[in-house]
Amino acid sequence: MRQVVLTREQKNTYLKYAGLSLPRHTSYPIVPVWQKDPDEALFAEHLIQELAKDRDVSLYVHIPFCGKACYYCGCNRLVVGQNSARRDEVVGTYLSALYREIERYRSYLAGSVVQQLHFGGGTPTYLTAAELATLLETLKSSFAFAADADLSIEVDPRVTTSEQLQLLRGFGMKRLSMGVQDFEPVVQRAIGREQSFDMVAELVAEARALGFDSINFDLIYGLPFQTTASMERTIQKVLRLAPDRIAYFRLAVLPDLFKLQRLFKAEDLPVSADCLELMLMAINLFGEAGYEFIGLDHFAAGNDPLARAYHERTLTRTFQGMTTGKGLNLIGIGASSISMLDGCYMQNQKEVAFYGEQIHQGFPWVRGMILSQDDKLRREVLQQLYCYGKIDFRLCDEKFGIDSQSYFAKELQRLQLLLDDGLVALDQETVTVTDPLGRMLVRVVAAAFDRYLPENAFQAGLAAGQASTAG
Ligand SMILES: C[S@@+](CC[C@H](N)C(=O)[O-])C[C@H]1O[C@@H](n2cnc3c(N)ncnc32)[C@H](O)[C@@H]1O
Ligand code: SF4
Repeated sequence: MRQVVLTREQKNTYLKYAGLSLPRHTSYPIVPVWQKDPDEALFAEHLIQELAKDRDVSLYVHIPFCGKACYYCGCNRLVVGQNSARRDEVVGTYLSALYREIERYRSYLAGSVVQQLHFGGGTPTYLTAAELATLLETLKSSFAFAADADLSIEVDPRVTTSEQLQLLRGFGMKRLSMGVQDFEPVVQRAIGREQSFDMVAELVAEARALGFDSINFDLIYGLPFQTTASMERTIQKVLRLAPDRIAYFRLAVLPDLFKLQRLFKAEDLPVSADCLELMLMAINLFGEAGYEFIGLDHFAAGNDPLARAYHERTLTRTFQGMTTGKGLNLIGIGASSISMLDGCYMQNQKEVAFYGEQIHQGFPWVRGMILSQDDKLRREVLQQLYCYGKIDFRLCDEKFGIDSQSYFAKELQRLQLLLDDGLVALDQETVTVTDPLGRMLVRVVAAAFDRYLPENAFQAGLAAGQASTAG
């Protein structure tokens, strides 16, 4: 495998752009521009229309609970404690609300077939095996599942039991995603999350013995005390366990929002230049070990469905990251969950307590967006960019009946800056991000096509980036 190396000049270019505050486009348009307090009747009408267009759906169910908070965490989760007195009441109330929401969807999904189901969180295995069993039984009796439906779950190795794994396999679940983050003790102590290599190794071995055939590890770079040497040790340990997929996230540092991050001292955190080395090292080590680098932050072994979807061009970028299952209507159930259908998006109430109250009145939607033809076109452009690093204007012209060269004249003009900096290559029919520089900065290229970024954000952001490197 070719080693990925950046010249000093390319590293400077990377650093110029990497700090810009630009979206990662897990949806287009991004959630903050969706309308607040959407008209429920109108969105329900759109939901019916979208479901009539395509029978196949994907379900996402959010379980927000965790036993203990990790200091870096940016997920929508509620820390209840593993054995706290209020545990049963809080969890019981939430599950009742979840069942109400499932019931609400029952008639809407009467003609649909569930092709995918994913439990995310929080920590779905915070629930007991009995609670998980009731939830799965309720879902299976409420909706029609395809015989070969792809069922998956996020698990925390510290709280996941053999009983839970056996039960999940019994329901046909075959994919597990586990939070690993980092194996170094000093990093684990600093992030309030201690889990040994043996604990993870045992869970992996047990899951494989039970027949789970795709195991994903989440890793984070940018955490306190991480260095290239420490990360190399973590990655070598990861490779020994040979997960089928790896999500390699850059730490999102937002201490105003994720308050426990205030426990991190600035001097303990790797700076941007260190993070670049951590990313390059991962690309090279995972690449040498035979993993395909997919999108911004995913790696997949050659025989994993994610790698196959990459080659077959059936990848989709959703708020879950890179997924297989091109274009499935996604229905999100539970607090903060997002539904993404071809023509409309909705997000549920985030606060667990309010979600429980709102579900009694109707759908708990707090934001929504009905997509215009222009939104759909730009979504297509961004999907091509994030998934494959290339926009093929011929596909857009054919699908949307436009002439991309004139439709995107302003965007193509914006790209001149990125062309000069070696992030993209342009011709009459395509925009291709360069590898690896443009690929690592694909968010910047994508921003040029995002109509909702303030008119001057792109230029102003780049100007700020240039000023900050100059300074
Ligand atoms: C819902 S958790 C995974 C399941 C389970 N709760 C666990 O932690 O094992 C989703 C993943 O998001 C990632 N994550 C959480 N906070 C993050 C942050 N601030 N920046 C980047 N990634 C983050 C972590 O890698 C985490 O494993
Ligand atoms: S990383 Fe996972 S276990 Fe840790 S607080 Fe976030 S959701 Fe909970």
